[in-house]
Formats: sequence, structure tokens, C-alpha cells
Amino acid sequence: MAIKFDEVSRTFYLDGKDITYAFFINEYDYAEHLYYGKTIGHDDLRYTRGTFGGSAVVKLSRPDVKTAVKSYNHFGSELTFHGTGDYREPMVEVVNPAGDRLTQLLYDSHEILSGKPAIKGMPSMRGGETLVLHLKDKVSCLACDLYYTVYEDTGVIARRAVYKNESKDVIMLNRAYSFAMTLPHMEYDVVSLYGCWAKERKIDRIPMHHGVVSIDSKRTSSSATLNPFMALAEKNATEEQGNVYGISLIYSSSFVLKAEGTPDGRTLVTGGINDFDFKWKLESGEEFETPEVIIAYSTEGMGGMSRSFHDAFRNYLINPRFVRKHRPVVINNWEATYFSFDSEMLKNIAKAVEGTGIDTFVLDDGWFGKRNNDSAGLGDWVVNTDKLHGGLKEIIDYVNSLGMKFGLWFEPEMVNEDSDLYRERPDYAIGVPNRPHCYSRNQFVLDLTRKEVRDYIVESVNKVLQENHIEYVKWDFNRNVTESYSLGREPERQAEFAHRYALGLYDLCERIVEANPDVFFEGCSAGGARFDPGILYYFSQIWTSDDTDAEERTHIQYGTSMVYPLSAMSCHVSVVPNHQTCRMTPMATRADIAHLGATGYELDTSHFSDEDRAVVRKQVEEYHEIEDLILNGDLYRTENPMESNYFGFMVVSKDKKEAVLTAYRRMGGVNNEMKLLKVAGLDAEKVYHVSGLDMTLKGSTLMNVGVAPMFAGGDFMTVKYWFKEVGAR
Ligand code: DGJ
Repeated sequence: MAIKFDEVSRTFYLDGKDITYAFFINEYDYAEHLYYGKTIGHDDLRYTRGTFGGSAVVKLSRPDVKTAVKSYNHFGSELTFHGTGDYREPMVEVVNPAGDRLTQLLYDSHEILSGKPAIKGMPSMRGGETLVLHLKDKVSCLACDLYYTVYEDTGVIARRAVYKNESKDVIMLNRAYSFAMTLPHMEYDVVSLYGCWAKERKIDRIPMHHGVVSIDSKRTSSSATLNPFMALAEKNATEEQGNVYGISLIYSSSFVLKAEGTPDGRTLVTGGINDFDFKWKLESGEEFETPEVIIAYSTEGMGGMSRSFHDAFRNYLINPRFVRKHRPVVINNWEATYFSFDSEMLKNIAKAVEGTGIDTFVLDDGWFGKRNNDSAGLGDWVVNTDKLHGGLKEIIDYVNSLGMKFGLWFEPEMVNEDSDLYRERPDYAIGVPNRPHCYSRNQFVLDLTRKEVRDYIVESVNKVLQENHIEYVKWDFNRNVTESYSLGREPERQAEFAHRYALGLYDLCERIVEANPDVFFEGCSAGGARFDPGILYYFSQIWTSDDTDAEERTHIQYGTSMVYPLSAMSCHVSVVPNHQTCRMTPMATRADIAHLGATGYELDTSHFSDEDRAVVRKQVEEYHEIEDLILNGDLYRTENPMESNYFGFMVVSKDKKEAVLTAYRRMGGVNNEMKLLKVAGLDAEKVYHVSGLDMTLKGSTLMNVGVAPMFAGGDFMTVKYWFKEVGAR
């Protein structure tokens, strides 16, 4: 049993792989946090509570306790609440029927479950063993269940909260976060992933301070601005050493994560659905589910944290049907043609890669309605026969006759003003009556909070999928929501919009993605703007960025790998000069970087010479040799392109019998520095043959000495080494 309850000290001990999480129910029936870190014994940890008194002492409101000098403010916390002496960031904020905003959620009972109940209407991890802690406010009759799940094979804990209105009246939720947890000190750096279009998931690291560090999205999408991730890394924590807590929220709409340096010198972390522009009317008898948060603990620095997230997501989040299997190697026509194509052009692109190992042709934007540019057609999921003369069937049959699968692009959540759908149902687009719409890419977002709108989308997309032999779907989302408002809801419920949009999106995913179990789905959002664990639950890979320049991709893929496994990142080889940066990089480099994920090609192959074809065939062959490692191995980030002239990813099989190191040097030059590339993750005692060096060396030698790279002259060059165990010495 991974979860134990000590009845004497009223302590819960939750043990996962190499971790223990502990809290107890204190003398005020408050769930008081004790510990989260490396595995420890089940000792009585209450001696760690300390004596901090604080300056603003508020006595606990318990009639029999007249002399208490502590308030909730002084307890390590599993759930912070407002109005009864705790001045830290509350996890929950309510308006009770009388108009007061007090909450006092105290222990009532608990259950230990052998599995993990799914969240109603939202994605979450599977498996594990679960503790459900039932807390109640006896006056307002708000109840809260805190869920904790631990895994024997993964060093993470999954947490969430369910709020229940057990009163006879309405309770307004002004804030309903998923978790709260106290960390033992403040000597952390806060790490987050920020960015924008074509520059997704860059790494920020700032010192923790007194007060609140907050990262969030207000876009009704997890967004490229800040990913729903935060790490608290001890000051001395590096890529491979030191203590790090990582927090990743399984959610695709507006979120917030906060770290608060409290007067007692500790750090309170909390967050979930963003309470900015949020209010939820909870009727008598109703429950409110919050998204799940995954909290990783690592003693092996940022790298160890990432490996825990990667294992957790591959084992328990991403679709088990696809997560570990061979991924389609695609040829996508977007950068080759944009909107200007016909069946012949597409056939030529597909025909040119026949026999190269590329096995899936993906037809991107522009195949439907009057979609000749980005101002028309979205919402009309009917084939454009001016462009595809023989309809979808003809091009699909042709692609299949080449021995390739066929994939298709959709943007199900959107509508253009110039579309049949908008002409018939303008009310389906999100908007506020008597106010003009904000335009973005000439399109509007459909109101997914309304069932009839979702029904239209499900019917029209599923019709295309069911009437055609489509084996792959790229699901795009190219603009953010503005004018958050639904015609389907009364005024006092309009601030429920952002969360209801997420629920609508997940409902669509259930009814389209889950209803077509043999189709492989890729997520996309103007590049990688909605790259989050909620999307990853339904879409086994996500387009990482529209920026396919190899140099930029080293940064983007490095940052994305903080949380997401390489198998989640869709990465394509594109043409030079690069369409986003105009940079020239060698074809081999573009392939080596794109092959560090779920790979593909996105360029006009119709002009390919036999030599070009041979190059691609060889690249795809090499990719297949490392594909299993890329999908299932442990990632070690050996060189950081944000900090040096180099990038290095080493991926090691779980049994440490084989590994591959791909490294990249940005700038060439003359009289270059002597550089030894770092090697990591091997078994020190095993002996490896290293192709690329063509030598046999011990793991300890390789990891302590490194390898001297033979980069070809010039800028933007890569090298690749394969390590294969040949025995022990
Ligand atoms: C944005 C995506 O990131 C691109 O790959 C492409 O699919 C376009 N949208 C199509 O409009």
C-alpha cells in the first residue's frame, strides 16, 4: 500500500517512486502540510512544526480554545482559505448566501481508493492509488474533497479538489484552485516557460521573494505566453543536481500558478483555474471539479524533474494506444503550397517521397469551403472541388496507392465571417450583442460553451472522418478568445465562460477524438500556443512551433522538454531560406533537430531530384533506428543553447543498453575552442561501442570525459553518436 494513515498522529504518508508526501490533521482539524521530498520513514513529523508566532496573531475561532496563539496563517497548508485568520493566498474564495466570504474547511473523514476516479468532463492521469480527504465548513455547508494520487513507478503526486455545495442556497465561487502546498523555505528560483508565436516555451528563472510570484493565462487557452507549468528550484539546483519541485496543470484554458514567500520564510504554492474573470454559481447540491495538477519532486535537478513528468505523461496521461508506438513520418503541404494548390500539385508532392519511408501525407489548411486565403471558409467542412477536382476520395485513394496514409487538417473551433455557417448562424460565434467583434486572422471563435454549437461541429467533422479513409488529423486553433460571452447563458453566469469553454473543448474531444479511436490526432495552435497536458491527453503529439528553423528549434524544443516528452513534440524538416527566419541551415542539421521528436517533412518535394530522395530516405532510415529511444527513452539535456554555442540532447533507453546523443554547434569559425561534449545517463559499469567515434569505451569514461565532436566547418552543424552496450569491463 502506497498510502498509509497513522491514527495516533493522524498523519497521512503517501509514497511514490523515491518520494514521500506527508501531512496531518492537526488539533484544529486543519489539514497541515508536513513534508514532500525524497522517500523517508513513517516517523512522527510533527516536531517540524516550529514555533513561529507571526506579528498579526488571530486566535482560531474554536469556542473551547481561548488561549491559542496560532492562526491558520501559521500552519503549513494543504488548503488555504479566506476570512478566518489566514492572510496567505487562499485556494478557495466564496460568497456565502448571507453575503459573507468566510470559509473554514476542516477535516471530516477520508477514504483510500485502490485506483483513481476520473474527473467528470476533464482530462486527468490514470492509474495509481488515491487518498480522498473530505473537508467541510460546518457553517456554510461548503464541502471540499482533496484528491491525492501516487504512483509506484513515477516520482509525482497528482492533486485536485472538488467543491460541493451541501447548503440549501447558492454559493458563489470566486476562486476555486486545485491545490495548495507549503514548501519548507524560500531559497528557490521560480522557473517558468514563456513565449509568443514562433518563440514558444523559452525558459525564465527568477529568485523567489516575499510576496507572490504569479504566472497565468487570461486567454481562454493555456497559450504561448506562459505554459501552465512552474518549477521551484533550490538556488543551487542545476540541470542534473539539486532539489526541484515541478508543477504542471492538466488544463487548456485560463490558468494561474502562484508561489508566495510567506512571513515565516516558507513558500506556499497554489493555483488552478484562473480566478481573473471567473465566478461560478454553485447551486445547492452541485459540485465543482477542478483540473488536476501534477507535482514532481526531483533530487536530480531540472533534468530529473523533466524525466518524472515524461514518465508520468507517457505512462498515465497520453493515449496508451499511440504513446509508445511508431509515429507517422509525415509530409505536410502547408509550407509547400499554403492555400494555393490543386489535386495535381498535392499528388506530385506525395509521389515525390514514395519509397523514402515517409508514410503519411497530411493535407493542411485550404481543402474546404471557399478557403483560398485565410478570410473565408472556416466552419464549412465540405470539400472544395475547385481545388480537389475528384473530391477527398480521389486524393486519398492516390495517396493510399503509394502505400501512404492520409491525414487532414481541421480548425473545428473557428468560423470565418465569409462562410455558410456564419451566414446561417452568426450567433454561433462568441460575441457580445451590440458590440463589434475583434478580428484575429479574419476569424471568430465558436461558442463551445453551447451544446448546439458543439453538436454542429461534431456532426460536420465526424461526417468527413466517417465518409473518408482518414488516418491522421491535425487539429488547429489559430486565435484567442475575445468578447468572452455566451448567448446561451444568463448574465450572472457570464464569468463562467473561460472554464465552460474548456469543458466544451473536452466534450468535443470526447465526441470526435475518442469517437474515432483508430485516427491519430495531432494538436496545433498557431504553432505551439496550446501545448499543455490537457491537449496531450487527447492528442498524442502537438505541433511544437511554426518556427521550423533549426537554430530556433534548439531553443523551443529544449524549453518544451522541461515538461513534455520528446514523443509529444511534432517537429518538421522544412526548406531554406527558412520561411520564418530566412536563415540558411544545412539539410542534415534540420533533419537531426527535427528527428528529436515525432518527425516529418514540410517542403515542396515535387521538385526533388533522385539525390534529394536518397538523402531523405537515408534520414528516415536513421530516424527509424532511434525512434524507439526518442519515444520511450530518458532525456538528458547535455548542452543548453540559451547559455552557450551548443545544444545537446542525449536519450538513453530505460535499460541503459543504448543511447543516442545529438549535438549542435551554432557558430563555426577558426581556431575553435577545444570542446568536449557532455555524455550523461549511461551505466558507468557498462561498456559501449560508440558509432561516430567507432570506439569501445566504458560508461564511466564517457560520462566523466565526454566526447570530442568532429563538427564539419561552418555554422549550424550537428553531430550524432550512437552508444550500444557491448558488455562489461
Ligand atoms: C497554423 C499552423 O501552426 C500551421 O502549421 C498551419 O497548419 C496553419 N495554421 C494553417 O492555417
